Formats: sequence, structure tokens, C-alpha cells
Amino acid sequence: GLKKKEVNVLCLGLDNSGKTTIINQLKPSNAQAQDIVPTIGFSIEKFKTSSLSFTVFDMSGQGRYRNLWEHYYKEGQAIIFVIDSGDKLRMVVAKEELDTLLNHPDIKHRRIPILFFANKMDLRDALSAVKVSQLLCLENIKDKPWHICASDAVKGEGLQEGVDWLQEQIP
Ligand code: GTP
Ligand code: MG
Repeated sequence: GLKKKEVNVLCLGLDNSGKTTIINQLKPSNAQAQDIVPTIGFSIEKFKTSSLSFTVFDMSGQGRYRNLWEHYYKEGQAIIFVIDSGDKLRMVVAKEELDTLLNHPDIKHRRIPILFFANKMDLRDALSAVKVSQLLCLENIKDKPWHICASDAVKGEGLQEGVDWLQEQIP
């Protein structure tokens, strides 16, 4: 059959935001892990949509591993940035990491699409996607296509909308 176009995606965001849970949900059910543990370093995962074959660099969000992220920026053709909508205390840390990413020379001048998941929307005190986008000042991102979706990665809600958007952004 026809070979799908291959796209490298970087999955970034603080530890415990739900990156690995999201990527796991996007994989075919026979390839899904039953138990998700904190990522050490990074993990390479694959999933397909109707027209694309994604290779995901699922990075660890732990502070001690965040310096690994930048080594993969050049390869990345799209970014999935995950935020724990219930983690109000660390929203400022998530913003710092996002700003560092956006100002990196390997990212700054590229029109690379960024999909944000305001994850853990099921938590009682979760912030809305609109509120998360305000706190992260996403409206200041003018030179890259971006989109934010609220998601519940455990139930798999909100993920398809995001991936559909991402797929549309890839030429
Ligand atoms: P690192 O690999 O350490 O960077 O973390 P991560 O971003 O990959 O987070 P991971 O997917 O390991 O999820 C962390 C915890 O959050 C796990 O216990 C998940 O079950 C939980 N979790 C993930 N998504 C959701 C969600 O939408 N709602 C709720 N309630 N819990 C979630
Ligand atoms: Mg992980």
C-alpha cells in the first residue's frame, strides 16, 4: 500500500503532566502499555493517523532531564506540549519551560506547529483550556500555528481533536 508520510513529534512538558499517558492512548490498543511509569530520559514511540506516521520523542519532564529536550529540537517537525491543568503551583514553571523552548535558536525562527493539551481536565479544580492559555500567554505566539485542547488522557478524551488539528498542519 501507500507509505504514510513520516513526521517527528516532540512531546514536551513538566513531569507528571501526562505526556506518556497521552501518547500511549494514541497507539493502537495492542501496542498500549498497561502501566505507565515516569519516563527516564526519553522514549521513542510511534502512532499513525489516516495520512501520517508519527514518531514521537516522549521526553521526561523531570527537572534533571529537561536539558535533553533541546538536543531533539532540530529533528522535531511538530511539538505536543502537555500541561497539568490541576497543577496551579507549577503553571509558572511550565511557562518558563515553554518560553525557553520558544526562544531556542533551533525553534525560534521555524513555523513549527505546537499542539497544547490542557490535560487532567477531569480534576475537580482543573483550570480551563482558556485559563491555561492565558497563564501561558499563548496569544503571544504569532509566528507558529498553535492550538490548545482540554484533555483527559486517562479516559482518552480530547486527544483526537488535537491530533486531527496537528495532522492538518503538516504539509
Ligand atoms: P514524566 O514522564 O515524568 O515526564 O511524566 P508524564 O508527563 O509522562 O506523565 P505520565 O503520563 O507518566 O502521567 C503522570 C500521572 O498522571 C499518572 O499517574 C497518570 O495516570 C496521571 N494522568 C495522566 N493524564 C491524566 C488525566 O487526564 N487525568 C488524571 N486524573 N490523571 C492523569
Ligand atoms: Mg512520561
